This record gives sequence, structure tokens and C-alpha cells, in this order.
Amino acid sequence: MKPRVLSGVQPSGNLHIGNYLGALKSWVKIQRDYESIFCIVDLHAITVYQNPAELRAKILEVAALFLAAGIDPESSSIVAQSAVHGHAELAWLLTCVTPVGWLQRMTQYKAKSEAQETIGDGLLQYPVLMAADILIYQANVVPVGEDQKQHLELTRDIAQRFNSLYGETFVMPETYLPTVGARVMGLDDPEKKMSKSETGAGHAIGLLEPPSVIRKKIMRATTDSNPGVDFENLGAGVRNLLSIFQAFSAWSDDQVRTHFTGMRYGDLKKTVADMVVASLEPLQKRYAEITADPGYIDRILQEGRDRVSPIANATVNTVKQRMGLYTRS
Ligand code: TRP
Repeated sequence: MKPRVLSGVQPSGNLHIGNYLGALKSWVKIQRDYESIFCIVDLHAITVYQNPAELRAKILEVAALFLAAGIDPESSSIVAQSAVHGHAELAWLLTCVTPVGWLQRMTQYKAKSEAQETIGDGLLQYPVLMAADILIYQANVVPVGEDQKQHLELTRDIAQRFNSLYGETFVMPETYLPTVGARVMGLDDPEKKMSKSETGAGHAIGLLEPPSVIRKKIMRATTDSNPGVDFENLGAGVRNLLSIFQAFSAWSDDQVRTHFTGMRYGDLKKTVADMVVASLEPLQKRYAEITADPGYIDRILQEGRDRVSPIANATVNTVKQRMGLYTRS
């Protein structure tokens, strides 16, 4: 039997090249070596208010982007988290074995809650729901970016605690950190990871943006005051542009160094923009084809749900049984 892989993306904001290079691209690469489940985590998205109609449209958009990026719905299950009973239920069961101190220590929680006046309880519970996503499928491997490593460690702590209280129940999931392009930074602020929730117009490059917009954003990207590319003295902005180029082109370090040494920033940006536009073109074309049939994505999501629901139901029943609760058939 193949080991199982699970990962998730929130359907909030627009998926950008950071999501593609850091997540989707590596999912496509590994999907055949695993029994793969890729989740659109809509229950996570609602930890901050989402307009209902927009949320539903985003879920479909993200599913279509998974397919356009190359996820194969025959071998991989594409699932809307809220469509599978059990994620939210398991999250509650796990909440009851999770000390609140563990959750208050999460750096993402601290960062997000600092920025808000009132903090929804969902924000604190967020990592428990994530643990439920992973543990409900007994996933062996979870590909995530650096910023989610702490949540994975918490998932293991929760699983271990449950196992020691109620008996061996959960598989311990391992973190899988993709090797290239795992960390794309904001174009306007190269010290910060490119983020869907960042609203600055020059911050992220959306996967569905037209070439003219992509070019404009890259031409405006923050660099530094050097006259051209100096590998002995790379500013964060230039390093980010080079790593975007390298991730899309798959050039070696040597090739990149030889080609870009001394290049003026204007020319660097133009070269990067050409590469990004050319790389996204096939994805955008597939996206247009996929969404031309309005019922297609719904069918893919139903298939995904039907395929994974028996696994989720079995886990929830086992967990409830171990805890002395009523199960359902
Ligand atoms: N918290 C993850 C993120 O923001 C998304 C996520 C939710 C996830 N559930 C997951 C990732 C389960 C991997 C596995 O990136």
C-alpha cells in the first residue's frame, strides 16, 4: 500500500506564485508516489469573516487551480473540507485533549491575534482543526511550508497525547518540506513571505493575473541601491526575484549566476517577468478549459468527497469508541 499524503490550502484571497511554487508544484510531483488527498480548507478560511457567495466561488476556483496546476483527479482526491463530515467533529474531540497553553504558544496565532481587536475562538482553535484534517486520514506525510512546521509538531503532540490517554489510535504524520521555491517573498516587502491575505497591489502575483499585470508588478518590485546583480552582495528583493526565476526555470545555481551576474535590475526584472508569464500561460489556459464546463468542478469535488469519506468516518468512529461515546454508522 502506498503511504498517504495530505495537504491543504485556504480558499481565501487569490492563490499566487508562492502557493504554486511552495505547494501545488510539489504536490503534482509527489502525487503518484502516495495516496494523495488535497484539501480546500474552507473551515479554516472562516476563522476570519468571509462573504458567503465569494467563499463558495473561491472554493471552486481553488479546486480548478489544483487541476490546472496538474493534480490528477484520477489518482488524487480533491476535497472541500466542509463537505466531509468529521473534520469539525474530530476537531472538537481533539480540542478536549489539547491544553490551551499549547495553542497560545503558536507563533501564527500570536501574530494574527496581535493584529486584531477581538480574537475569534476559531483563531485559537485553528491548529486543532488542522490536526484533525491530518489525523482523520491517518496521513503519513504532510507537505507544508516552513511556517506550518510548528502546527505539524503540535499535531504530533496532540496525537501522542490522545494515544497515551485512550490507546494507540493515530498514525504519527511526518512533515515534508519541499526543496525548491518553498519560500517566495512579497514583491513589495521581500522580508515577508508572499501572502494571500496581504492586500497591497504590488505584493503578490496571482496565478490567474493577465501578463500585463504580472509584468507591471515585477517591474515595480522592491530591490536595492546596487547598480546591478552582485552575488556577493544580494539584497532580499533581488534574491527573491532570482529565486522566483530559478524555481520556474529549474536552472542550476551556476547557470543562474553566470546569466545574471552584473545584469542591471531593469533587465533582471524583464527576464523574470518573461519567465513567470511563460510559465503561467499553460496553467491559465488549462484553467480556462476546465472552467468552461460549469458542472465539472462540482463533480470532481463530489468524487473526492465520496472517496475519502469512508476513511474519515472510520477514524471518527474509532476515536469516539475509544472515548466511550456513541458512534454512527
Ligand atoms: N494551515 C495551513 C496553511 O495555512 C492550511 C492547512 C489546513 C493545512 N489544514 C491543513 C495544511 C492540513 C496541511 C495539512 O497553509
